[in-house]
Amino acid sequence: MKKEVLTQNKESWNTVAHHFNGVDALPSYGPFSQTEDELNLFGDVTNKKVLEIGYGSGHSLRYMANAGASELWGVDLSLNQKRTAEQTLADLKTHLYCAPMEEEIGLPANYFDVVYSIFAIGWTTDLEATFKLIYSYLKKGGSFIFSWDHPLYVHLKSNNGQITLTGSYQEEGPHTFLNFKGEDAAMVIQKRKMSTYINQLITAGFTIQEVIESDVSENDKKGEVAISDRYYSLYKARKFPATMIIKAVK
Ligand SMILES: C[S@@+](CC[C@H](N)C(=O)[O-])C[C@H]1O[C@@H](n2cnc3c(N)ncnc32)[C@H](O)[C@@H]1O
Repeated sequence: MKKEVLTQNKESWNTVAHHFNGVDALPSYGPFSQTEDELNLFGDVTNKKVLEIGYGSGHSLRYMANAGASELWGVDLSLNQKRTAEQTLADLKTHLYCAPMEEEIGLPANYFDVVYSIFAIGWTTDLEATFKLIYSYLKKGGSFIFSWDHPLYVHLKSNNGQITLTGSYQEEGPHTFLNFKGEDAAMVIQKRKMSTYINQLITAGFTIQEVIESDVSENDKKGEVAISDRYYSLYKARKFPATMIIKAVK
C-alpha cells in the first residue's frame, strides 16, 4: 500500500512540479504564515551542514546558501522537482537525492547541524520512520525545523465568511484527491492530528523546543481584510493559523 501510494504520488508530483517553482520556500514557512525573518528559528547557519526534506524547486536551499550554509543536501520524491532544483542551484555544490523521505537511502548519520522541511513532511506515508531517520541524520544538539498545514485548518470551511467545522479532526489516515492543482494528478495525502506530530517527535527521541501555530506576518495584520472563501485566504488565516511550525532538537 505504502509503495503504491509513493508510486502514485511521485508520478503526480512530476505532473504538478511546475506549479511549485519558488512556492513555499524560505524565508516563507507557508501560506499566510510568519516568515523566518520574523521568527528566526534557524539562527546563524554560517558553516552549517543542512539537509532539506522535500526540497521542491530548491529555493529554500538557495536561501540557506545565501545565509552561509557550508553543505547543501536534499531529498525529494519527484525527479522533475530535482531537475528544477538543479537549475535553481546550478552554480552551487549540492547533494540532491530523488527518493522518498521515509526510506533509508544511506544519508550520513550524526552529520547535519540542521534538517528542515517547508510544507513537505505531511506527505510522508510513514511519519514514525521519517522522524527516526531525520533524528539519525542529525548531530547531537542539531535542530529539526518543519512547517506544514495546521492539522485543523483542513476542517475549516468558509461560506460567505462564516467559518464552520467540517469532517472529523479525530479521523487520521490517507485521503485521495483525484485532481491536484487542476491537473489530472491523483494524490494521496495523510491526515494527522497535531498530537500525532508531537508524539512521534518525542518517540523518535527529539526534545521539542517550540511549537508555533503561526499568526499572519506583521504586514498582513494591517488594515481591513476582504471576506474570502478560498482554501488559503488572509481572511481565514487572520482568525485561525494556516501553518504549524515545530522546532525540535536532538
Ligand atoms: C510544497 S513542495 C515543497 C516546496 C519546497 N519547500 C521548496 O522550497 O520549493 C512539497 C515537496 O514534497 C515532495 N514530496 C512529496 N512526497 C514526498 C516523499 N514521500 N518524500 C520526499 N519528498 C516528497 C514533493 O515532490 C514536493 O517537491
